[in-house]
Amino acid sequence: MPLVPPHVASLTPYVPGKPIEEVEREYGVTDVAKLASNENPLGPSPRALAAIREAAARVNLYPDGASFLLRNALAAKLGVEPREVLVGNGSNELIELLVRTFVLDGEEVLTSAGTFVAYRLAAQAQGRTVVEAPTKARYQYDLEALRKLLSRKTKLVFLANPDNPTGTCFAEQELVPFLDAVPKDTLVVLDEAYLEFVDGPGFQDALALRRRHPNVVVLRTFSKVHGLAGLRLGYAVARPDVVEYVDRVRAPFDVNAVAQAAGVAALEDDEHVARSRALVLAERPRLADGLRALGAAVVPSQGNFVLADFPGRPGKELFEALLREGVVIRPLGPYGFPTAQRITVGHPAQNERCLAALARVLGRATA
Ligand SMILES: Cc1ncc(COP(=O)(O)O)c(C=O)c1O
Repeated sequence: MPLVPPHVASLTPYVPGKPIEEVEREYGVTDVAKLASNENPLGPSPRALAAIREAAARVNLYPDGASFLLRNALAAKLGVEPREVLVGNGSNELIELLVRTFVLDGEEVLTSAGTFVAYRLAAQAQGRTVVEAPTKARYQYDLEALRKLLSRKTKLVFLANPDNPTGTCFAEQELVPFLDAVPKDTLVVLDEAYLEFVDGPGFQDALALRRRHPNVVVLRTFSKVHGLAGLRLGYAVARPDVVEYVDRVRAPFDVNAVAQAAGVAALEDDEHVARSRALVLAERPRLADGLRALGAAVVPSQGNFVLADFPGRPGKELFEALLREGVVIRPLGPYGFPTAQRITVGHPAQNERCLAALARVLGRATA
């Protein structure tokens, strides 16, 4: 008898951004600029930090398993009912819970090729079939192609808007015909991890679509604009029955007490959100221009990162050359982009440093 089922034996694990400590140890560098995981360069919300210190004194106690205060705070902020809110140990846990709760053997998870790998990994870890629609113009979701792949077997659809790692968005006028074609027992997860960084036209946040399309699940995270990636906290807004079923499947106390307190405080910190957003909106075009000046093809991004393709430069080699310079970026080979890197928008000084390091490694002058 095999030790594990074939779908586990064949799994390729998620490759996270290289941690700062590991780069320092392995490459003998200090003062590492980590631009690999789309984290917030301004740090956590100061209000959340104060709440974290307070909550830390009570970690001898189990957390509130129902996350009562956080769910209420989210509901009030978003204008929904608390029974429509789910919280999770990172939105990544909610992705896994949605697959585990709803997708039966023989049913399918539908998503787009080249998108956030957690959707595929969550389905594969459960032995579920993943169907990936082709993209258009290489970096853009094709909602028409996705629509054609809907079948009676499709149980869950994962769409990231904006997308990771391309940073592209799809517009409401493309999304609505797709939603109209989805059977009513198919859940459509609209993952808006990067919502706050959108400044382009035509984008519609998914909360407003739920009235006409009750099978929409809106997924969001505290890891990006709120700067709480290390605490692991995400949430979803969904129909009360969907919330209730997921609550049956989750492990007790999956969202820790410190994260719950930090989440409530971060929601009140509009100033930190505004500063974080303003930094990305100011620096994103500067970083993109600098990368273009170095010969990269840069995809116009609506996230806190950019995808830069360096034709003829294998992704892993460029990534390793940059590590030696103390700069961590993310090679996108595993996403099907063998010469592309995803680079998080950092502080001005971090972005300058990344561009200067790239210029040295590529043997080019900076702009
Ligand atoms: C599109 C998308 N969804 C979800 C997540 C996961 O976020 P969390 O830290 O809440 O698990 C990420 C993280 O990078 C992401 O890019």
